[in-house]
Amino acid sequence: MKLKGCIFDLDGVIVDTARYHFMAWKRLADQLKIHFTEDNNERLKGVSRMDSLDIILEIGDMRLSEELRKEYANLKNRWYIEYVSRMTPDEILPGSLEFINELKGVGIKVAIGSASKNTSLILERVGMNNLFDAIADGNTITRAKPDPEIFLTAAKMLGIEPERCAVFEDAVAGVQAALNAGMICIGVGSHNILTEAHSVISGLNMINLKKLEKIAKISGL
Ligand code: G6P
Ligand code: MG
Repeated sequence: MKLKGCIFDLDGVIVDTARYHFMAWKRLADQLKIHFTEDNNERLKGVSRMDSLDIILEIGDMRLSEELRKEYANLKNRWYIEYVSRMTPDEILPGSLEFINELKGVGIKVAIGSASKNTSLILERVGMNNLFDAIADGNTITRAKPDPEIFLTAAKMLGIEPERCAVFEDAVAGVQAALNAGMICIGVGSHNILTEAHSVISGLNMINLKKLEKIAKISGL
């Protein structure tokens, strides 16, 4: 097997934190009297905290000073932390633990590649803080997806060439980041949205080592 490493996005791949992001953004939007819906929330997937705020302000046709933007982003994050602090291992998405352990069992290294600055807190809450060989998160990088920085950093931390890594991603920008890094990308979600991925699965419960080997082979690895 030429594949040596697997890099996982966190939000929407390993855990369903999108709903907590939504709850916190919605609370802020309500306070600002901006009409923000679950459909709008799709646009925030994989997008950094400040960029997410800017999308919401754009929806509400509202312009704010740099200082106020920072203040509101911090407020949203305080609410978000309040929600994720109550997470439990039950919130790990189906199949995640089984698949990651299968990979580790055959010596494939596993890493997290997430834009979230709350990655450590979430991993700790769901009991996955000692599972990964490397963690690249929003505190490690400066350029947001679709820039490949996050995945290249994760591969470097694992000591594996990018061409020998596969990425699991639920966001369009994340799929592009993986491809920009020269990695194989398995989309987690819908075929209609993640059109550029090498392969798409509905969740990590739909993949195992054998299937991954097949995808890697077809994708030219
Ligand atoms: C992930 C999520 C985004 C979130 C971003 C930053 O990419 O998909 O919705 O905005 O992380 O998360 P943070 O926890 O740092 O605000
Ligand atoms: Mg995601």
